[in-house]
Amino acid sequence: MIFGLFALLSTLISAESTTNEVTRDYCSLPDAIYADGVSAADFGATGWSYTNAANWADFVVTCGGSFQSPIDIITTSSAQEAIQPQINYKSKDASTGYEEANKPYTKEYEGEYSEIEVTDASGSVIRYYAKQFHIHTPSEHTIDGKYYDLEIHFVHQAIQDDEQDCNKVKNKLTVFGIMFQESSSATDYEAFKPWFDSNVTGEIDSFDLNDFFSKMSDATYYHYNGSLTTLPCSQTVNWVVFQQPLPISSTQLKQFQDFLSDSTLFPIKHNNRPIQNLNGRKILKGTAITSGVTEIPDVQGSFAQIIAMAILITLLIQ
Ligand SMILES: *[C@@H]1O[C@H](CO)[C@@H](O)[C@H](O)[C@H]1NC(C)=O
Ligand SMILES: *[C@@H]1O[C@H](CO)[C@@H](O)[C@H](O)[C@H]1NC(C)=O
Ligand SMILES: [Zn+2]
Repeated sequence: MIFGLFALLSTLISAESTTNEVTRDYCSLPDAIYADGVSAADFGATGWSYTNAANWADFVVTCGGSFQSPIDIITTSSAQEAIQPQINYKSKDASTGYEEANKPYTKEYEGEYSEIEVTDASGSVIRYYAKQFHIHTPSEHTIDGKYYDLEIHFVHQAIQDDEQDCNKVKNKLTVFGIMFQESSSATDYEAFKPWFDSNVTGEIDSFDLNDFFSKMSDATYYHYNGSLTTLPCSQTVNWVVFQQPLPISSTQLKQFQDFLSDSTLFPIKHNNRPIQNLNGRKILKGTAITSGVTEIPDVQGSFAQIIAMAILITLLIQ
């Protein structure tokens, strides 16, 4: 009886949560400090681009800081991380909003998607929410000096709520980097198709970010304190770079490269920032837990969810 009700209520709760817009208060990122004479720094011929990547500090001072990304990850000098992130993204269905963002320097999808828990620079476990993912080609990070054909970044931002105080969160962002290497046996990824399929105008109906992780036989990653790799280069990122590259088809790789065809902005169809100095930073190593992880539910329940939970609790108490 109770189990039957529980199943019914769970169904109601999950149906409700997919149709409800969740509003969140994200921890704000540090303000950009513009260089003398620069009021804004737009991407393009008169602003920053991948042809002037060595001079981004001329636009935003932070880009010349000592905790910049990307870096070369030297695997032999990394220490073991104490707490490993658990990854289980909610799969996106047609009712979950996720839209192409109009970015001239990458292909990007933005949306309210899923929660992860990661150890912050302060050592505490912080809740972050996936906000967007985007592409660089070739890779931005190198692993023991090796570049890969493409790197996807999953960007997660910490939130402020009853249980989490932004003032105590050192790194407001956690970014996962996953490498891709061209392979003749790779099949095309559904999540990438709408970017280049002229029949689709920016909305992705469904995809599952877990698919990327389930294709990894080894979820070893490297974690270090770094920055955004595009302006304003904010030094507030927990970087988690996965070691094992995934295959990408020549067709999909070429689609990304061809998007970067303006050679005045993207030398040789590249949108990767050059490697930055490590400046004594530590690199920690761990293995993400990607199987048997339960989905972390949204903390901000809708009104219907709260009512449903109240009914359930009342029933259980009786
Ligand atoms: C795109 O549209 C064309 C013509 O309308 C159709 O032939 C093709 O199958 C469509 N492609 C996809 C991926 O739906
Ligand atoms: C990041 O920096 C903090 C100090 O601000 C340090 O305690 C922490 O261990 C660093 N994290 C990593 C992954 O190296
Ligand atoms: Zn990026």
